[in-house]
Amino acid sequence: MAEPEGLLDIDNLSVSFRTPRGDLQALRNVSLKMGKGEIVGVIGESGCGKSTLINSIIGLLPANTCALSGHIRFAGEDIVGMADRDLRRLRGERITTIFQDPMTALNPVLSIGTQMTAIQYRRNSSPREKQRRTVEFLEKVRMPDAEKRLGQYPHQFSGGMRQRICIAMALLTEPDLLIADEPTTALDATLEVQVIRLLRELQRDIGCSVLFISHHLGAVAELCERVAIMYAGEVVEQGSVRDIFRDPRHPYTRKLLECDPGRILELRAVMPTIGGDLPDLVHIPKGCIFRERCPDRFERCSERPPVETIRAGHRAACHKARELANP
Ligand SMILES: Nc1ncnc2c1ncn2[C@@H]1O[C@H](COP(=O)(O)OP(=O)(O)O)[C@@H](O)[C@H]1O
Ligand SMILES: [Mg+2]
Repeated sequence: MAEPEGLLDIDNLSVSFRTPRGDLQALRNVSLKMGKGEIVGVIGESGCGKSTLINSIIGLLPANTCALSGHIRFAGEDIVGMADRDLRRLRGERITTIFQDPMTALNPVLSIGTQMTAIQYRRNSSPREKQRRTVEFLEKVRMPDAEKRLGQYPHQFSGGMRQRICIAMALLTEPDLLIADEPTTALDATLEVQVIRLLRELQRDIGCSVLFISHHLGAVAELCERVAIMYAGEVVEQGSVRDIFRDPRHPYTRKLLECDPGRILELRAVMPTIGGDLPDLVHIPKGCIFRERCPDRFERCSERPPVETIRAGHRAACHKARELANP
């Protein structure tokens, strides 16, 4: 079967977890598409469902997942309902993930050379060739003296270097999709800029798609072409970075970006704070999910808002999406 143009098509995805208080609806009707070679950012406060979204894509939802509906089509195959064996193949060959803490991906008792050679186990090439490729990829992520450092262990590298090693390892598998779950959150601002620029360069080089999860608006603006804004388990707005940053239409997005436009592009370590709390995901309130915290709410917000199309590729789930245009 010919592969469709899109690489990833998340369609109406909902995920719930069983908890002692009742079922927690972590994702509700999430839809998001990614093209081949595209870099898409997902932004949202802690607890809004970013990791649940990733875990759904890689088929690693926690054991207390009690409901999963919708579709996640990856290169035309539906991940929802896929057998474990096929999921493992997908994770090994086509989708790879880098995490916030590089130590979760690195084995502390093996040298990085050993680990990076091992990850190439599917390649039909000699150990010498695998080592050559390891050095090549370490050089790609600008590891100084790469060849000399192959025998060193993860603890002998700085945090920033360890994250580069993880990126090199992820790319060694030549994935179609690289998922980065807040890969720069643990790094200081200077290192973060370096890692972001590196990711963009490597993505151009290798041509994979990147799903970049972050709560740094500036990092997303710097790296991504498109962005989805999540709030309490829903995608409330999505569009090109340019449209979202210049003409946000959902009051939540507008709140996030409510600052001097010149400063948005600064890489900031914290999300702007918004008054109030996330709603209780066990007892989802009726109507708009953002209503309680929304400065623009009115009577109609007790009804669930439609997803309005503002322009091609730019959608916002708000009753006022058409009115809230920037002058
Ligand atoms: N295994 C689980 N059991 C119950 N609730 C969970 C579980 N994992 C996550 N949650 C809840 O689901 C929501 C989304 O969590 P998560 O996807 O981790 O958000 P994020 O990555 O954006 O911080 C949160 O309310 C979180 O407490
Ligand atoms: Mg998370």
